[in-house]
Amino acid sequence: MAKTVKDYIRTIVDFPHEGILFRDVTTLFADPRGFRMCVDQLLSPYAGQPIDKVAGLEARGFILGGAVAHQLSTGFIPIRKKGKLPGAVISESYTLEYGEATVEVHDDAIQPGEKVLLVDDLLATGGTAEAGIKLIERLGAEVIGCAFVVDLPDLGGRKRLEGMGMDVHALCAFEGL
Ligand code: PRP
Ligand code: MG
Repeated sequence: MAKTVKDYIRTIVDFPHEGILFRDVTTLFADPRGFRMCVDQLLSPYAGQPIDKVAGLEARGFILGGAVAHQLSTGFIPIRKKGKLPGAVISESYTLEYGEATVEVHDDAIQPGEKVLLVDDLLATGGTAEAGIKLIERLGAEVIGCAFVVDLPDLGGRKRLEGMGMDVHALCAFEGL
């Protein structure tokens, strides 16, 4: 049988710490068929819809978001970890398992009323994506969809984003933590 996107994803046991099964998309990105299939499937629900920008969440969302933006002929916007963007930014902080993280976007990267597709490799608790959505909405733009390669449904991210009224699209899911 032909391989699916999920088949190209490698699982690393006990990374970054004991008890975690790390879903490693580098093996998917490294395969020419896998990467093309993954990018095609990520954008297919949105092809033909009016989209002004694709926003990618650092770091793996940049790899996917750039390819999706190219294929949709839109611009690409990086949502970066704190302190990386050179121009004037707006920031959103969110809670991690231990501590807090902050993401930022240039305050002139997206114009009011623009339609934005948010892209990342993986949806876990949804904290990162929620922060990205808030940044885009604070600039007056509309998030028309959130596209991920992997959903970890047990961590509740999909419910969290759907609870915000988001359209959530994931290519595969891994049950369990
Ligand atoms: C991982 C993953 C998502 C995020 C999902 O990124 O790539 O961006 O976590 O988790 P959440 O839904 O619970 O917020 P990570 O923060 O490890 O950074 P990286 O992509 O820069 O490696
Ligand atoms: Mg990430």
